Amino acid sequence: MTQTLDNTQNAGQAVDPTAHDSGNKATDKFKAERVTADTSQERASAIYKDLLAAIAKVAHDHQVTYDEYRVLKQWMIDVGEYGEWPLWLDVFVEHEIEEIHYNRLNYTGTKGSIEGPYYVENAPELPAVCEMPMRDQDREATSLIFKGQVTDIDGNGLGGAKVELWHADEEGYYSQFAPGIPEWNLRGTIVTDEEGRYEITTLQPAPYQIPADGPTGWFIDSYGGHPWRPAHLHLRVTHPGHRSITTQLYFRGGEWVETDVATAVKPELILDPQPDGNGNNVVEYGFALDADKEN
Ligand code: DHB
Ligand code: FE
Repeated sequence: MTQTLDNTQNAGQAVDPTAHDSGNKATDKFKAERVTADTSQERASAIYKDLLAAIAKVAHDHQVTYDEYRVLKQWMIDVGEYGEWPLWLDVFVEHEIEEIHYNRLNYTGTKGSIEGPYYVENAPELPAVCEMPMRDQDREATSLIFKGQVTDIDGNGLGGAKVELWHADEEGYYSQFAPGIPEWNLRGTIVTDEEGRYEITTLQPAPYQIPADGPTGWFIDSYGGHPWRPAHLHLRVTHPGHRSITTQLYFRGGEWVETDVATAVKPELILDPQPDGNGNNVVEYGFALDADKEN
């Protein structure tokens, strides 16, 4: 099998990104953060013992062979070389961590969902009523007017809240991770008005296929799955003194909503936009933020 390993950037011209392209970009971005966790030795010991016990159980339950063990080893090497660990982990594992995070502090505000590999901080600020940065070709998609209010859990508006929005274009590509797209295309930090309101004009995103031509794709093929996520908007909503929310919104009736490869759809996060008579879709959705219980 030959793999396309060419990372050439065709400036100004969208070309099909390869798994290798977006995987390596996601890995480079993640590595730059140098993350740490405050995990005691006692806790690390408990987690590692249970992790190895879980692996042992699967190996014994399925009588895993030496050939299968070697294929696993090769595949893990390939995932690393293709830079696909952020992709694979965010698709297959992150939703569990997100659920634990939400339940641990008994949040009652808007539900979260996975961040995924394509968040970029410090997107340029936009006013409460705004249009997302987009190219002429993006304007050919149906436009989506997304409006609502950021409140606390008692319904009081939170002025000056930040609504970071990022999403794929109509072809399913994210700026900064696919070649030929302007840096901040379809990315912005919207600042709410005094009442916490916003009205954002953007485009209706398309379903997103996780890069399927590398080891994550081979993995999905091996069990007969599909590599699709339903069309979605990514959001991160923050306000001082309140818990920030990282979430996603989906579209009722959209393809793959029921079978998201990343298991990240929740019923509370499905939008039902309606035509406004002027060729746009319009939808209202608000975010309720809990008071901060941590940090
Ligand atoms: C992946 C991509 C996404 O856009 C997303 O929301 C979650 C995961 C991925 O390719 O891993
Ligand atoms: Fe996404």
